[in-house]
Amino acid sequence: MNLAPETFESLSLPAGFSLARDKQGRLCLIDSRKGAAGPLYVDFLAGASGWRLRDLSRNDLLPRAVGFKSARPPRTLLDATAGLGHDAASLALLGLDVTALEVSPVVFALLQDGLARARASGQELGRRIAERLTPLCADARSFLRLSAAECGSIPDVVYLDPMFPDKRKAARSRKEMQHLQALLPPPNAAELSELMKLALAVAAQRVVVKRPLHAPEIVDNPPPSHSHRGKSVRFDVYLVTSAHPR
Ligand SMILES: C[S@@+](CC[C@H](N)C(=O)[O-])C[C@H]1O[C@@H](n2cnc3c(N)ncnc32)[C@H](O)[C@@H]1O
Repeated sequence: MNLAPETFESLSLPAGFSLARDKQGRLCLIDSRKGAAGPLYVDFLAGASGWRLRDLSRNDLLPRAVGFKSARPPRTLLDATAGLGHDAASLALLGLDVTALEVSPVVFALLQDGLARARASGQELGRRIAERLTPLCADARSFLRLSAAECGSIPDVVYLDPMFPDKRKAARSRKEMQHLQALLPPPNAAELSELMKLALAVAAQRVVVKRPLHAPEIVDNPPPSHSHRGKSVRFDVYLVTSAHPR
C-alpha cells in the first residue's frame, strides 16, 4: 500500500502554501501567510537534525522505550505516524528495520525527498539511514487493519507519535507543528483509540506512544506498562502478550 503521488507538482495544498526546491535542491514547504514560520524541509545530514543523529545513543529515552535494553531487543519497527521522520531515522540508525507511514502526501513528499538526498549524499550517515528506513504514504489505520487481517509482516514494535497541541519549547518543533497542523488536524479521540487498538493487535512485542510530559495517556484503557520520562515528553510503553511470536 503506497498512496504517494508521482510528482510534488500534483499535490493539493491549503491556501497560502506552495512547494518548491531551494538552492541546495531541498524540497521545501513554503507558507506565505503573514507571520508564518520559514520553509519546512527534511535534511537528515545538516543542521540540528544532523547533529542530533550523529550524537545518538541506545541509552536515549526513545531507544530505551522501544526495548534496546530488553532481554529480546526488537529488530523491526512500524512508525505509524512518521511526520518528517526524525524519530524513524534515529531508530533506523540504531539498527532497526523501520517502516514509516505518513498519511499526508505533502509531508510524505518532504520525507521522501530528505531520504533521497541522504541516500545520494555519499555520506555514511545518509547511506545508513536510507538502507533501513522504508517510507510509505498510507493511513496507519488502513495499513494496520490489513496487517491485522493478513498477519503478513509483523513489526516487533509499533511506534505512535500523533500530533498534539504544541507546547514544547524547541524552535524546530514549533515550526514543524505549525506546518503540520495547517496540513492536517490532529487526530480526534476516536481516531486515536482506533489507532491504538490496531497497534496493540499487530505489534509482536510492544507499542510505544510519545506524549507531552503531563498529558493524559492516549487511551483510558489499557494503562501503559511503564513510561520513560524526559524534560518535556514521555514515552508510554504497552507490552504485548504476543499473538504472533516471531
Ligand atoms: C507529530 S508528527 C510525527 C513526528 C515524528 N515522530 C518525527 O520524529 O518527525 C505526526 C504525524 O503523523 C501523521 N499522522 C496522523 N495520523 C496518521 C495516520 N492515521 N496515519 C499515518 N500518519 C498519520 C501526521 O500527518 C503527522 O505528520
